[in-house]
Amino acid sequence: MNISDVAFSLQSPLSLPEDEVHLWNVDLAAVAEAEPRWKQILSEDEQARASRFHFSKDRQHFTATRALLRMILAGYVHSDPTELVFGYSHKEKPSLSSPRSDSQVEFNVSHSGAIALLAFARGRLLGVDVEQLRENFDHETIARRFFSEEEQRQLAMLEPPERYDAFFRCWTRKEAYIKAQGSGLSLPLHQFDVSLKPGDDNALLSTRPDSSEAANWSLREVQAAHGYVAALCVRGHGWRLTS
Ligand SMILES: CC(C)(COP(=O)(O)OP(=O)(O)OC[C@H]1O[C@@H](n2cnc3c(N)ncnc32)[C@H](O)[C@@H]1OP(=O)(O)O)[C@@H](O)C(=O)NCCC(=O)NCCS
Repeated sequence: MNISDVAFSLQSPLSLPEDEVHLWNVDLAAVAEAEPRWKQILSEDEQARASRFHFSKDRQHFTATRALLRMILAGYVHSDPTELVFGYSHKEKPSLSSPRSDSQVEFNVSHSGAIALLAFARGRLLGVDVEQLRENFDHETIARRFFSEEEQRQLAMLEPPERYDAFFRCWTRKEAYIKAQGSGLSLPLHQFDVSLKPGDDNALLSTRPDSSEAANWSLREVQAAHGYVAALCVRGHGWRLTS
């Protein structure tokens, strides 16, 4: 589901069955300039946070993304976008505090360059990450610092020109898993391995010290715009992606 219209609105409440995960792709380059419209949907603390961004583009992107998150989430929980209340974990992961329901709607957000991805599921923790592809940077030094031995081995097996895209596939998959857990970088990056294979639907290869943890999650690549790579991690299996 793509949003690229500054006049975007929901015509009716949204349905989110427990066996579905919904992914919305926002074209920030197209919508961010409608800042006054998005701003009025934000809470006071969100508006205050927006005003602290140094660059206007960052402020506009945050404002549009947060407003669209409120609009879509309100569609799923049949509420008003301005009435939603978010809570934050000790690592700053936002979740819906009010209204609450038995089978809570979970969400996660990622932005990079000119796009944002918003992912939603009912009763399942999830994390999403998108990165704009780039080249000509010292990916080896970063990989040595952040990637596991297995991930570095996969990267080294590729031809040098292929390594940049593979680096971002690895990065987004690791981030999506971390974001699903909500524990930020307190989850040691060397304690799990992801696959670097393009399009992999089963990308969480192993977890340590508890090897059974890997089976609790589905980690896969998802499509983003041209020039971007993205990954989605969801608790459990047997769900369908609508995007
Ligand atoms: C903050 C973090 C969760 C992601 O940061 P990021 O990749 O720069 O940013 P993204 O755009 O993907 O995600 C930001 C969004 O995630 C959400 N978020 C914030 N903290 C979160 C957390 N602890 N867990 C999950 N989601 C979180 C918020 O909605 C945030 O959006 P907002 O700022 O508009 O409110 C965290 O993982 C981090 O600091 N990463 C650092 C990067 C790194 O070293 N990664 C190693 C990978 S190999």
